Amino acid sequence: MSAPLAFTPIPDGIVCVPDYEQAARERMGENAWAYVGGGAGDELTLRENRAGFDRLRLNARVLVPMGAAHTRLRLLGQDLEHPILVAPSAFHRLVHPDGEAATMLGASATRSCMVVSAQASLPIEAIAAQASVRPWFQLYIQPDRGFTLALVRRAEAAGYVALVVTVDAPISLRNREQRVGFRLPPGVEAVNLRGAAQPTVPEGASEIFGAVQATAGWEDIAALRAATRLPLLLKGIMVPEDAERAIAEGADGIIVSNHGGRVLDTQPAAIDALPAIARQVAGRVPVLLDGGIRRGTDVLKARALGAQAVLVGRPVLHGLAVAGAMGVAHVLKLLRTELEAAMVQTGCPTLDAIGPQVIWRGP
Ligand code: FNR
Ligand code: LAC
Repeated sequence: MSAPLAFTPIPDGIVCVPDYEQAARERMGENAWAYVGGGAGDELTLRENRAGFDRLRLNARVLVPMGAAHTRLRLLGQDLEHPILVAPSAFHRLVHPDGEAATMLGASATRSCMVVSAQASLPIEAIAAQASVRPWFQLYIQPDRGFTLALVRRAEAAGYVALVVTVDAPISLRNREQRVGFRLPPGVEAVNLRGAAQPTVPEGASEIFGAVQATAGWEDIAALRAATRLPLLLKGIMVPEDAERAIAEGADGIIVSNHGGRVLDTQPAAIDALPAIARQVAGRVPVLLDGGIRRGTDVLKARALGAQAVLVGRPVLHGLAVAGAMGVAHVLKLLRTELEAAMVQTGCPTLDAIGPQVIWRGP
């Protein structure tokens, strides 16, 4: 980026991540708001992701020594200062002119690992240039497998240290977007996918079945595993059977996610799907979670139920819309601060100390 990044002050009165949502709504316009905020169908899963966290109660513990407390962890060979990652999301220039470069700068300021979407609105090399923590790269297997592999090579060369393959969204129907006639504004596009062949719907085929003819299968996961040395995570796993298959095909990590309620409506909350998957995986590979993380206590609950780390989607975009890189940094800092407070209040000096004992199981 040659031009300096834009400066916007953080509005007064923002004290927590949910405060950013309202502030972002006022600034985003209905087109971007429908895309970022929306979910599939009746948005039941979107709401359930939050409700799942809200239903869980915590046990307070007292007088636990916190002298050497910290939030550090080692994840897939990478040392991280804390377990809150930026979830991959598309088209950041939809909400801020500096796009993903500003998001990465905000993540860097808080020593957060960002997962960059292949549908980013800036070149993945320019985004990586702003990173202080080695970033991860997220992609969908493209209909053109050669293009997919070329993209992986670009990510490797740009310094990305893990590969996230999203497997849960071959197709999605979002009514909020349909109602506003969502469109990418001029100048915002998936620049890294320029020239990629788009699926062609065969004559007479269903719009849906036709569009998914060239989407990925398990054989593509095995092929990608063989084609790169980067750790490979599958994002969008919601049942233990798929977690087992992912491991069998060579996945190095699993992200429990219903895509923030944006794909199959009426799925359970990600946090409710987590325990059974963590039991099945049984420590063989790291399990991460996203969907509905808005408080430090949510991060603690996810750790307690088997996630090594979490990813945060919409709040990061809200922070970006409101105050660019500084808004992103503020969102991540708020979550980390709340996580640390929750660790103190539940008597957990380290992430490893956070276990099922912090969850209240009833009187
Ligand atoms: C997403 N998500 C997403 N996931 C992915 O793998 N690749 C992508 O390009 C995108 N794009 C995207 C755009 C927008 C606007 C949103 C809101 C989400 C899903 C994302 O990674 C994550 O799974 C959810 O956002 C997590 O839920 P919360 O934190 O938004 O509740
Ligand atoms: C979405 C796609 C880009 O959720 O993953 O909008």
